[in-house]
Amino acid sequence: FSRIVRPTSTLACQGARNFSSSKQNNTKVTVVGAAGGIGQPLSMLLKQSDLITELSLYDIVKHTPGVAADISHMNFPAKVKGFTGAEQLRDSLKGSQVVIIPAGLPRKPGMSRDDLFSANASIVRDVAAAVADVAPKALVGIITNPVNSCVPIFCEVMKKAGKLDPNRIFGVSTLDLVRASAFIGEAKGLNPKDVNCPVIGGHSGVSIVPLISQCKPAVQFSKDELTKMTVRIQDAGTEVVKAKAGAGSATLSMGFAGARFAISLLRALNGESNVIECAYVLNDVAGTKYFATPLLLGKNGIEKNLGIGKLSDFEQELVNKAIPELKDNVAKGEQFVK
Ligand code: NAD
Ligand code: LMR
Repeated sequence: FSRIVRPTSTLACQGARNFSSSKQNNTKVTVVGAAGGIGQPLSMLLKQSDLITELSLYDIVKHTPGVAADISHMNFPAKVKGFTGAEQLRDSLKGSQVVIIPAGLPRKPGMSRDDLFSANASIVRDVAAAVADVAPKALVGIITNPVNSCVPIFCEVMKKAGKLDPNRIFGVSTLDLVRASAFIGEAKGLNPKDVNCPVIGGHSGVSIVPLISQCKPAVQFSKDELTKMTVRIQDAGTEVVKAKAGAGSATLSMGFAGARFAISLLRALNGESNVIECAYVLNDVAGTKYFATPLLLGKNGIEKNLGIGKLSDFEQELVNKAIPELKDNVAKGEQFVK
């Protein structure tokens, strides 16, 4: 085993990390949507992890084996295989410990994430049915938007199949934390790698709730600055969609964030302690059925939900605004599977 010493942190939701890691394990990871704007950089970053022995790349587009061939030439140990076409989905997933799903349409300017529901709901439903069949014990990270509805869709399909383990299914909200670290670091002249701000709630507009009062290191903002910083974090996805002017949404920062989340799952699977990430999961912390909170990760997914901690009045107001939106998004996802 090659061992690269890495810092461990007890902070809620860990900051930026190197993608090489401590110990090689027998671990298969599948990326579903691997040939897309997120899928390609995500897969490229995952190839660099010593925690992965097999990297399975699935997408409906024909050139997916080409993406796999390209990434396979990177000189890291993980074996890379490409799969395409509906008939190969189950083969790509079989035996996976971790499945990351960035499959589906991205936004164009003027669209909300919820506007993607009709295009993406059935993609997530079908992938969930395949996971239930061939990899029911996998830890699953769902990137596809609208995350707030896609996670309930995935869970409902698993439930129908009698395979639901809510500790293993995650809506990936890591990009919200990555952005919070970047923006707060920039505003306060701190190295953004060392800034750690939990983000709770969901992954769309007002449902994104940064807990700046719990930021480490502690930072002070005036009320006006705090409002501006919060709104910037909530609207950061739209900032990228507007800047890309019709060519899609965040792909590179999301590839990075998705890889960070996947590697955190793998580190926990590999027995590392104190692995903490925020993610959108099934729980009743806020009465919405699903809510993102800091989670302690372990070999079976969520080991402990660390809850939302003490909120400032400002943050409690944000949660109050998030709750109705989340309830609607969850109900829409559940209704789709019924
Ligand atoms: P993209 O269009 O560049 O790539 C999507 C890929 O999914 C394509 O290669 C496409 O062929 C593939 N695909 C479509 N249907 C599929 C299916 N049934 N099975 C497998 N693959 C399928 O889009 P993108 O920019 O990579 O974004 C993907 C999704 O991620 C979008 O829904 C976007 O809104 C979402 N997203 C989420 C976050 C987040 O923070 N959770 C951040 C950015 C983007
Ligand atoms: C993001 O936050 O960048 C993603 O959810 C993509 C989007 O549509 O904004």
